[in-house]
Amino acid sequence: MDLFDKCKDFKTVDILIEKGIYPYFHALETKQGPEVVMEGINEIMLGSNNYLGLTSHPEVIEAGREALMEYGSGCSGSRFLNGTTKLHLALEKELAEFLHKEDCVTYSTGFQTNLGVISAIVGRNDYIIGDKENHASIYDGCKLSYTKGLLRYKHSDMEDLERQLSSLPLDSGKLIVTDGVFSMGGDICKLPDIVRLAKKYNARVMVDDAHGFGVIGEGGRGTASYFGLEDEVDIIMGTFSKSLASIGGYVVASKEVCNYLKHNSRPYIFCASITPASVQTARKALEIIKREPERPKRLMALADYARKKFREKGIDIRDSEAPIIPINTYDNETTFIACKKLFENGVYVNPVVSPAVPVGESIIRTSYMATLTEEQIDRASDIIAKVMGELNLLKK
Ligand SMILES: Cc1ncc(COP(=O)(O)O)c(C=O)c1O
Repeated sequence: MDLFDKCKDFKTVDILIEKGIYPYFHALETKQGPEVVMEGINEIMLGSNNYLGLTSHPEVIEAGREALMEYGSGCSGSRFLNGTTKLHLALEKELAEFLHKEDCVTYSTGFQTNLGVISAIVGRNDYIIGDKENHASIYDGCKLSYTKGLLRYKHSDMEDLERQLSSLPLDSGKLIVTDGVFSMGGDICKLPDIVRLAKKYNARVMVDDAHGFGVIGEGGRGTASYFGLEDEVDIIMGTFSKSLASIGGYVVASKEVCNYLKHNSRPYIFCASITPASVQTARKALEIIKREPERPKRLMALADYARKKFREKGIDIRDSEAPIIPINTYDNETTFIACKKLFENGVYVNPVVSPAVPVGESIIRTSYMATLTEEQIDRASDIIAKVMGELNLLKK
């Protein structure tokens, strides 16, 4: 048995390429706006997490350019050592203030934030209780920790969460961790129940707000704000790669927790910090979110408009609340064919297939930008309805 046998035997991609339905790595030839060019084709972009449309905002681009000129292209070191600029510190202060928490720690990606926070906070005698549909980075953070046990509860099933919590010793350390807005389904976690159960069973609560920040809550402050529970959630993490139009991740929590993370979280300590340009683009995006609270409202209204159009046209969508609308395509191959046809007809969407979802539950994940227009949604929904009709996937 050779170590690389698994690579030699990995044929899934070859099969999809042979069938002409390989859906990944389409290269963008323009900025990530509501309409983009990919491989020479004009595409309405329904597959980006650039929720507020800020990656192409002139002020955001200018902020990045200025930082690049002043500080150079990289930090060449960990935040812990030579990789901290005064810009990093300013961004952390601004995020903590915006999210009404004592302190903030920034990481190099959102993925690393989950790895770094969970693995540092959860020790050998502690338990993690997580929603089954949590993001992969949460799962990997759990794996990286020395947790005594990872218990997974059925998606948003509060009875199951209580059953799992009640099976653990009351005096043990426990972290309940959940996506705020679920990344694939676009539904919002049942935070009031989670907080209530955390109190009852002596657990701490961590929310991954990658898809909640800039989208829901007062002025886009995210899931905890949406429920008026900012004081009850112990740890909130998020990313700069979606509404904040950059790259990087953050966690906000108490001063004590942040101080502990800064000195014990390995993906923080042993990783180079984000570039000054990335910091300044995120800061400018945050400034715009504060200045223009109508952007998240526009985004939600647009997603509601898309849901209405899709339903009118018989497109088989799942119920969702956020600017993420899953379209049921059920099996993997049909999903890939649908994506290819949509791409050829000028709509870019993302396939989500097993094993990422259970067999038979494949979807096309569509996501929205505040800068899309109703006219673009109309055009996209016509094309989606046509393609779904050709594949016999419209609701009768
Ligand atoms: C729920 C959730 N958490 C964390 C991440 C990781 O964020 P990033 O891509 O910025 O590393 C993502 C990214 O897709 C996500 O959807």
